[in-house]
Amino acid sequence: MLINGAERQIHVDPERTLLNVVRDDLGLTGSKVGCGDGKCGACTLLVNGQPVQSCSMTVGAAAGSHIMTIEGLAQAGQLHVLQAAFLETGAFQCGYCTAGMISRFEWEELRGVVSVALLVLLFSVIRLLTLPMA
Ligand code: FES
Repeated sequence: MLINGAERQIHVDPERTLLNVVRDDLGLTGSKVGCGDGKCGACTLLVNGQPVQSCSMTVGAAAGSHIMTIEGLAQAGQLHVLQAAFLETGAFQCGYCTAGMISRFEWEELRGVVSVALLVLLFSVIRLLTLPMA
């Protein structure tokens, strides 16, 4: 399977979840276990460019696919524009499900559904509205 652009050979039980293998066998721990039931999106990865709740996909079903994790979005030491936007606007909140949100927004941006500029504006407005009053 291709993980973040690099070919990886893994020999595991094909019925294990993709999330479990990515985290525990490949050490890519950016994606988190939230509900563990395909509902919250904290575990979202891009599989062949499509967002997938990796807690609900077996690694066998993902065999031969290109998997993009949050660790693969930054290139050459530079944050992806969405990562930078989250950082710039303080959109991380507790950070637990941030990797899933960014993966989902990456897919939305690639499809032209949402733009980084719109997200930065939205996050900035939310930040202003939630700042404590002086
Ligand atoms: S952990 Fe909630 S959807 Fe996967």
